[in-house]
Parts: sequence; structure tokens; C-alpha cells
Amino acid sequence: MTGLAERFGTPLYVYSAKAIRERVRAFDEAFGGVPHSICYSVKANSNLSILRLLDKLGCGFDVVSGGELERVLRANRRAAKKVVFSGVGKTVAEIDAALKAGILLFNLEGASEMEAVAACAAKRKQTARIAWRVNPDVPADTHPYISTGLQKHKFGVPIGEARELYARAARSKHLQVSGVSVHIGSQITQVAPFSAAMWRVAELVRQLQSDGHKIEYVDAGGGLGIDYSGSQDFAATVAEYAHAVTRPLHDLNVKVLLEPGRSIVGAAGVLLTRVLYRKKNGEKKFVVVDAGMNDLIRPALYQAEHQIVPVEDRKSGPEIVDVVGPVCESGDFFARERTLPTVNEGELLAILDVGAYGMALASNYNTRARAAEVLVDGKSAQLIRRRETIADQIRPELFKRA
Ligand code: LLP
Repeated sequence: MTGLAERFGTPLYVYSAKAIRERVRAFDEAFGGVPHSICYSVKANSNLSILRLLDKLGCGFDVVSGGELERVLRANRRAAKKVVFSGVGKTVAEIDAALKAGILLFNLEGASEMEAVAACAAKRKQTARIAWRVNPDVPADTHPYISTGLQKHKFGVPIGEARELYARAARSKHLQVSGVSVHIGSQITQVAPFSAAMWRVAELVRQLQSDGHKIEYVDAGGGLGIDYSGSQDFAATVAEYAHAVTRPLHDLNVKVLLEPGRSIVGAAGVLLTRVLYRKKNGEKKFVVVDAGMNDLIRPALYQAEHQIVPVEDRKSGPEIVDVVGPVCESGDFFARERTLPTVNEGELLAILDVGAYGMALASNYNTRARAAEVLVDGKSAQLIRRRETIADQIRPELFKRA
């Protein structure tokens, strides 16, 4: 890690290809008993090299924008047939691009959107495969910003209205009813909510089948949480999750689509950052590092607690500190009142489990250049995104004419 920081500079996102492969394999093993396809949720980490690695492992993709679709196509043109398109606000241009690419499935979230997809498909003389994203109205015990499966949330359509919507979709000759999808939230660490949602979905699939629809796919969404506080027996966790998801579906003859994001890449990434300064305000000790909330916003936005470890273990004694970034906001912190081994100015810290929703949510706030990203695979360490420059940031801007 020290070598990587010297070679590529800090702040630096470092990902492990091995860890990603292991996670994909664990999913495939856990769902081995049923026809399934992993549609990795691109929003978690959309770096092209990560997408290409996942494509090579046989994954499909869950996208929520035309931009994400374009990334998948750049990783592999032929991956389109394994793409599901989710999201509440698909534009006509995005729908058109998805039809042109020939994606597997549109997850519809509203009646007007259905009309838009049908109209686009008609114009292109195509048929769009669709699933309704149903909202099962089950609570997921997670941060309110990333819970999605309740009636009060903007996502999906109420499960009670689904039969009527399927009937409407079936009447359009440019839509092909193909599946049912559900996603109840993210960072869910208990399997009970998944199980509750899938029992409701299974009941709906049965009704739809008896209404004469051919339901080929059940898209179970993503949301499986990871343990940010320590190490997790991932194989056991995913096995338990697979049981919860597949048990309600066992007699339905459907292919299960999965949209994991965090659980595939979260634990595979660290953020390396260098200690710029130490300072004390009264009794309070601060460790000021060169990464900021623009690089990793999860602590500020979701009160996330990522573990932080010194890269070189000097066996120094513990102290209680706030680890903060250089951005001009009090919300710019990575840890508060955390007991850490004492680190000196110039030393390196690693912020753990940042492979998902780290770089993906990074911004240029304070005109800070976004970090570089490196993918480690065995002995090789490759730059997969160079550090941004100020010129990169300023390029789209125009001076107002005098
Ligand atoms: N499918 C859909 C329709 C989603 O909305 C999401 C995540 C996923 C799949 C992937 O969920 P995952 O397996 O990663 O939990 N920025 C937040 C997380 C936002 C999740 C949004 N949707 C965070 O840093 O915790």
C-alpha cells in the first residue's frame, strides 16, 4: 500500500480484483440451485475496468441511466442482452438508447413511463420486455435515505395495483410482459425483509400466471448489506440471503435476476489518504487528511462508520481523535471521537470498505480533483482512472460574453 501511495499519489482508491471474484463466486454458489443471473448494480462502482472484470465473470448489469448503459456498452458491446434498466425517471432518449442496444428488461416504475416505453418501441418497430417494479410495502431496517420498499417512497408501483398494470401492459403490442421486479432498499443486514418481500412477489407471480401472463423473470433487486464493523463470513451471509430469496419462488419456474452492488464491490476497496496535519482545539484532537467528503461522502450523508487503519503498524499507543478532511464543511469527517493508533503527519491511513458508493458519489466540491483509482490483481497494480486535473474540471465552463 505504501508503494501504491508513492507511485500513484493520494487520495487513492485501491480495489482488489480477487475480492470481487470471490464475491461473485459466492453469489453464484449460493444461487447455484436455481436458474439465475447476477446483474451487478453499476451505480455502486461504475469504473470501466471494474465493469469489464464483472463482464468477464459472466455478470449482467443493472443500470439506472443512459450514462450507465453507455459505460456497460464500452466495457463490452455484447453485454446489452444482460442489462436490466431500473429507475423512476427514464427519459425518452434513455429508453431509445436501451431499445437500440437491445437490453434484456425494462423495470417499469409508473403508468406514464409504460406509455413512454411503448411509444418508443412502436417508433422503433420493436417489442420491449418489461417487468413492473412492485413496491411490497415491507420495512427494511436500514438508513432512511436508502430504504425504498415502503408506500411512502417514490419507487415502484403498489403491489395491490400490479395486476391491473400487467393487464394494461399486455394490451400493448410493443410491450412484452416478462417479469416482476422488486428492490426494498440497500445495506439491509437481516434476511427477514427480503423473505417478506419475496413471499409477496411470489403470490403476485402466481396470480399473474393464472391471469395468463408468462413470467420468465423475477428480479429480486439488490440491497444485501455488508459488515462495516469487521470481517464477515460472506459465503454464509449470501447463502442465507439466497435461501430467503429463492424459497418463496421454488415452484414458479422463473429465472432469478439479482442486482447486488455493495455486496460485490464494497469490501473490495480501500481509500488511501495521507495525514497532512495534526491539530488540537482545546482538548480535542484532529487528524487532518488529504481525502475529503468530496472523495467519500458516506460518513456525512448516511452517518456511515468506516474502519480506519494506519497503513504501517508502528505499534503506537491509542488516542481519541476526529479524522477530518480539508473541505470547508463541518460535515467533512471520516470518524468522530474514534480510538485509533497514534499517527504522525505524513503517514498513511486506509479507510476500509469503500469499494461501493465511494468513488461513485465523489464530486468536485471545493474544486478538488477526484482521486485516482487502482486495480490490484495478483502482483499487478494498474491505474484504472488517472487523477483528475484542474483542467479536466474547468474544460466545460465558458466565460459569459462581455
Ligand atoms: N437495484 C436498485 C433498483 C437499486 O436502487 C440499488 C441501489 C441496487 C440495486 C443496489 O443496491 P446494493 O446491492 O448496492 O445495496 N449510496 C448509498 C446506497 C444507495 C443505494 C441505491 N440503490 C450508500 O452509500 O449506502
